[in-house]
Amino acid sequence: MASRVVSRSIRSSMRAHSSQLSHHVHRNYASAAGVSQSSLSQQEKEAIQREASLPNSDPAPDSQTARVVNEQLPYMVPTYARPPPMFHKAEGCYLWDIENRRYLDFTAGIAVNGLGHCDPGLAKIISEQSQMLMHTSNLYHNPWTGLVSKTLVEKTLEAGGMHTASKAFICNSGSEANEAALKFARKVGKSLDPDGTKHKHEILSFTNSFHGRTMGSLSATPNPKYQRPFAPMLPGFHYATYNDPAALDLITPSTAGVIIEPIQGEGGVWIADPAFLRALRAKCTAVGAVLIYDEIQSGLGRTGNLWAHADLPIEAHPDIVTTAKALGNGFPVGATIVNDFVAGKIVIGDHGTTFGGNPLACRVAHYCVTRLADAGLQREVVRKGEVFREQFEGLKAAFPEVVKEIRGKGLILGLQLDRDPTPIVKAARERGLLVITAGTNTLRFVPPLVISDEEIKEGMAILADAFQ
Ligand SMILES: Cc1ncc(COP(=O)(O)O)c(C=O)c1O
Repeated sequence: MASRVVSRSIRSSMRAHSSQLSHHVHRNYASAAGVSQSSLSQQEKEAIQREASLPNSDPAPDSQTARVVNEQLPYMVPTYARPPPMFHKAEGCYLWDIENRRYLDFTAGIAVNGLGHCDPGLAKIISEQSQMLMHTSNLYHNPWTGLVSKTLVEKTLEAGGMHTASKAFICNSGSEANEAALKFARKVGKSLDPDGTKHKHEILSFTNSFHGRTMGSLSATPNPKYQRPFAPMLPGFHYATYNDPAALDLITPSTAGVIIEPIQGEGGVWIADPAFLRALRAKCTAVGAVLIYDEIQSGLGRTGNLWAHADLPIEAHPDIVTTAKALGNGFPVGATIVNDFVAGKIVIGDHGTTFGGNPLACRVAHYCVTRLADAGLQREVVRKGEVFREQFEGLKAAFPEVVKEIRGKGLILGLQLDRDPTPIVKAARERGLLVITAGTNTLRFVPPLVISDEEIKEGMAILADAFQ
């Protein structure tokens, strides 16, 4: 009954959405077809009609967008397959393409724009700081690198996260935050095994994980698609199955570190079993290995707490937490938060970066962490997660053969489909909604944390339409 009510609400807001947008008839499609309507079959005509009535049908090959893209693409190393629209401005939960069509954003730049696009407070700070001091190098002190480190530690403790958190290293990205974590773990291993008899340099990571694209973080990411072109990986990396207690047997006196996402994002929105994390903690402590939680996607308010692991008992707490993404709300910055067990083994010169921790990035990060740590914002994330779930239940009831499972926590959510979601992603985009995929046949939802109930419902109505 409840789901019937929800699906009715999905359909009615869907109707509102399409009537609202019916005047946005796509300008380029007919000319792109480049053929006279009369030479087309009825089926082809209907397909064109349907496409032309889409509010944001993908820019045609003769569009202004395609012209700009085609001019620039030859100069870009071809590492991405991007869809046709080109975005040039944004506000809150919406983006606009260069043909001035609006898209609701359920992706937040892959869990980055937690505070929404172009947050005015953040824009003001960037403007001010860019006129004061942007960069000095890490050879000198500045007021912001230390302050953001202190804030990260204090907010982690206040939130009930890693109870031993004591220091932070600031860098530029998620991969770099993990790279530092892996290096720190190896340094701890070296300190505990100075003559190398235990070979304490091994790192354990998990199936389905994603830790980044640098050689260290990639070596911890056992996805053949990402690793194979760059093999061999670094020596000493081993892999276990996520949530499988057999992983414990792979943690030995040779293990320097274990790296895991408390919620796997790219892997398809899978949550680590708290009992599994507790067992990892106990085994790491027993063999003197560093436990690293990669909270680059799951952290900074996304689950309704500052960190996904902050809801867990201290027996499941790590030695290192890595973060990036929402830390800069779009400005590149990352951090590796450590405890004294780790920090005590790091000495001057062990690690460094030119840009990492510069005054501009750190002032941005300080602003973002302070806002994202707000209890009111986090309560809202939990509540809005429920609004999404209600809507998902409606979608599951309407399309039971397609939607198999609803996963996630707060505003990191996944819909497991029985098929490749790519056509749904395109259909949603052409109706004005951006969504992304993850893992195998999973639709992933990581919207700005400031999204409103109305925006959630508007997006879900578009999604329901895209499922048709
Ligand atoms: C869990 C996790 N770790 C690490 C990374 C890598 O971060 P970056 O792309 O900033 O290097 C990502 C990026 O998606 C991630 O989701």
